[in-house]
Amino acid sequence: MILPVILCGGSGTRLWPMSRERYPKQFLQLGFEHTLLQDTLLRLEPDGHQPALVICNEVHRFICAEQMRAIGYQAGGIILEPEGRNTAPAIALAALKACKTGDDPILLVLASDHHIGDVPAFRQSIERGLTLAQGGKLVTFGIVPDSPHTGYGYIQCGSPLTHDTRDDMGAEVAAFIEKPDLQTAQGYLEQGGYLWNSGIFLFKASEYLNELAQHRPDILQACEQAMVQPHADLDFIRVNREAFLTVPSESIDYAVMEHTEHAAVVPLNAKWNDIGSFEALWQTLSKDPQNNAHIGNVMALNTRDNLVFAQERLVATVGVQDLVVVDTKDALLVAHRNQSQTIKSLVDELKERE
Ligand code: GDD
Ligand code: MG
Repeated sequence: MILPVILCGGSGTRLWPMSRERYPKQFLQLGFEHTLLQDTLLRLEPDGHQPALVICNEVHRFICAEQMRAIGYQAGGIILEPEGRNTAPAIALAALKACKTGDDPILLVLASDHHIGDVPAFRQSIERGLTLAQGGKLVTFGIVPDSPHTGYGYIQCGSPLTHDTRDDMGAEVAAFIEKPDLQTAQGYLEQGGYLWNSGIFLFKASEYLNELAQHRPDILQACEQAMVQPHADLDFIRVNREAFLTVPSESIDYAVMEHTEHAAVVPLNAKWNDIGSFEALWQTLSKDPQNNAHIGNVMALNTRDNLVFAQERLVATVGVQDLVVVDTKDALLVAHRNQSQTIKSLVDELKERE
């Protein structure tokens, strides 16, 4: 049975001041019915999936546990990281834990902060990837790109991997390029044959560990040390702090996916959105006839195409277009919607001031 692994340790800086260090994006409701983490868990198949392993920062343990309790989800464990070391180590901890009892499950690695509009299509893609993963492939799920976005991994599709006449049953990965520069990304779009990496992966735990041993043995060894005698406390699994702090920080994309020769790609056509910016959030939310997305107590007159978030107070807008207004208890952001990507720089500057 598939073992879902939920990566829940990101900081979501592009959604500041909605998303904060102490309360990052994956734990926010953002105008949807559930938080992004809750939706990620509710999207799983109770009959086809084992209870998920969740990996988060120890400072978020109670938020994480409470959000699962609120939807009645019983996780298979919550691995706590003393500090974030990016996704390659987080997945290694989960894979090591999963293999401890002598098992070798197929891991379905999921980000905790994505929006997926078409859940049946998502499940169908996972189903299609399963045979490839069982055969030893590291399966990625590819999205048809609509812009030369530089925040994504790009997958160059190779030869088809099945004899099925439908061309969406999976292909070799000819090349994987994480976060190329704008010019390179533009070249890929013009050339065609590239997909965005959705950040969802499916592989045998042992295959991932083997690839890590080959391409980043330093990360694997440090993670093994961190998992020698993990301390179990309720559902929480605490890794060895000193050992984990020595783990190099790297994403799975740079550490493994750019180097492996065993990657495959299955198309994902499920209204996927990684809510990586306010622009992306605005696109996924339902809007009024003037194309405004309003969350909370908002009044608007003669406005168009805005995203307005009012946490407590009433927020009113008049005669404005293409704005992001985020009003929280202690910070107010007013930005142009097309400056969504610049907000990360603002947060970096704020951190320097602290
Ligand atoms: N436990 C844990 N620890 N989780 C983490 C950590 C960490 O140190 N760092 C990030 N995560 C979680 C995030 O919360 C998110 O759910 C997921 O891992 C992916 O991390 P991001 O930081 O959001 O990655 P990204 O968006 O820059 O890039 C990845 O996703 C893109 C699609 O959204 C890559 O896989 C790209 O190739 C991909 O295109
Ligand atoms: Mg992301």
